[in-house]
Amino acid sequence: IDYTLWRDLLFDRKSVKIRYLRMSNNIYIKNACVVNHDTIQENVSIYVENGVIKFIGTECDFPIPTNIEVIDASGKYVIPGGIDPHTHFELEFGGTFAVDDFYQGTCAAVAGGTTTIIDFVIPKKGQSILEAYEIWRKRADSKVVCDYGLHCAITWWSVEVNKDMEILAKEKGISSFKMFMAYKGLFMLDDSELYETFERCRDIGALAQVHAENGDIIAKNTKKLLENGVKGPEGHQLSRTEDVEAEATNRACVIAHQTNCPLYVVHVMSISAAEEVARARERWGKNFIFGETLAAALGASGEEYYDKCWHHAAAHVLSPPLRPRKETREVLMKMLANDDLQSTGSDNCTFNKKQKELGLDDFSKIPNGVNGVEDRMSVIWEKGGGTDIFCAAKIFNLYPKKGSLTVGADADIVIWNYKDTRTISVKTHHHACDFNIFEGMVCHGVPEIVIVGGKICVRDGKLSVTPGSGKFLPRNAFNTFIFKS
Ligand code: URP
Ligand code: ZN
Ligand code: ZN
Ligand code: ZN
Repeated sequence: IDYTLWRDLLFDRKSVKIRYLRMSNNIYIKNACVVNHDTIQENVSIYVENGVIKFIGTECDFPIPTNIEVIDASGKYVIPGGIDPHTHFELEFGGTFAVDDFYQGTCAAVAGGTTTIIDFVIPKKGQSILEAYEIWRKRADSKVVCDYGLHCAITWWSVEVNKDMEILAKEKGISSFKMFMAYKGLFMLDDSELYETFERCRDIGALAQVHAENGDIIAKNTKKLLENGVKGPEGHQLSRTEDVEAEATNRACVIAHQTNCPLYVVHVMSISAAEEVARARERWGKNFIFGETLAAALGASGEEYYDKCWHHAAAHVLSPPLRPRKETREVLMKMLANDDLQSTGSDNCTFNKKQKELGLDDFSKIPNGVNGVEDRMSVIWEKGGGTDIFCAAKIFNLYPKKGSLTVGADADIVIWNYKDTRTISVKTHHHACDFNIFEGMVCHGVPEIVIVGGKICVRDGKLSVTPGSGKFLPRNAFNTFIFKS
């Protein structure tokens, strides 16, 4: 069934439209404790009509229709749906494809209370970035069950790429570009290319993003470790140590400063790299340098690479890796809380045990990536007692349509039951993958009801979604939160 077509047909016919909206799109939430970034409103009502929030408050000056869905939110928080600014659904990596596709990936997101994701278009070296964008749109549009945006990676540099970046920013709604300082020979750019891409981002009003690790050092270390017989997943951590991440983070911030281009450092995994972000923010501005950490960094430990079960260890391989310093999780959480870091992504890029086996005899061939899109909100809540939806919405120019519960915002709403608990497990998760790096974690706080675009998609632990019901979110360049005139 082509659900998109079916939905559009319904909307074309007025009489059916009304029936459809009655069925699923009009919701009244009463006794709500509404949590926004700047306020907590107790005992208010929310009225949702046609996928948008039409009223929030105590006294509505227009009649609320009767015979609509009524939700009693007493004793729970009502929060904006989560935004995961970093996913890789069905990404080709290391000769195989990530198993969470845009359907399964967004299902997992919604099940966990995340109602917007931003994925990365990653063109191959030499491939047109416009062509890669079209491929990602084609993959995603018919499958997504929540709204999504796209960043684009710049994996090679040419006059054509330079030109096409502007087309993406001006015409296609892509206003953030990720550059890799690692994955030598695959995606990595050198410093002069970084300089040029940053200048281009600045000129077209886009946010530059970096994967900050020193790819040259990693290549040397990998060769040395393999020659010395270190072949297991622990070699992944040993080849790309904390200082290798911190050095690249500082270098990226310096290039951002030199080119006067705002910068967002993705997946900050170590204390040292986070300190570089914090220092650069002090020196060059809080609306100029931003840092994102991952659910994995907050909820999993670097000791896993030494697990005697190879599959267990390999399942934790992502880049930059989890760190051996025990205090890492706690310190990164504190740095999020005090605004040294600004957001938490998942970097969801899942591979099954069989796929991870591509690196059985050589850690550098283990496909990189872990789960997280489903459990990100729970992990943040469990470890820090809060969420960071608002910052991602502002940084990526989605606010206040996303990341806020206000009149006119999209009705992406989570009824968060902070008294309930759930235990994370591969047996119950909504991912396509056969491992969960947060296995056994007991989380206080459950997304009891998840409303996506005005439709109840999660209730009583059951997911009810329609492939293709999500929309692509074009994000304008020259975001006023970052680019001050
Ligand atoms: O290990 C990771 N992070 N895999 C996805 C690609 C990337 O670098 O974000
Ligand atoms: Zn990366
Ligand atoms: Zn195991
Ligand atoms: Zn990533």
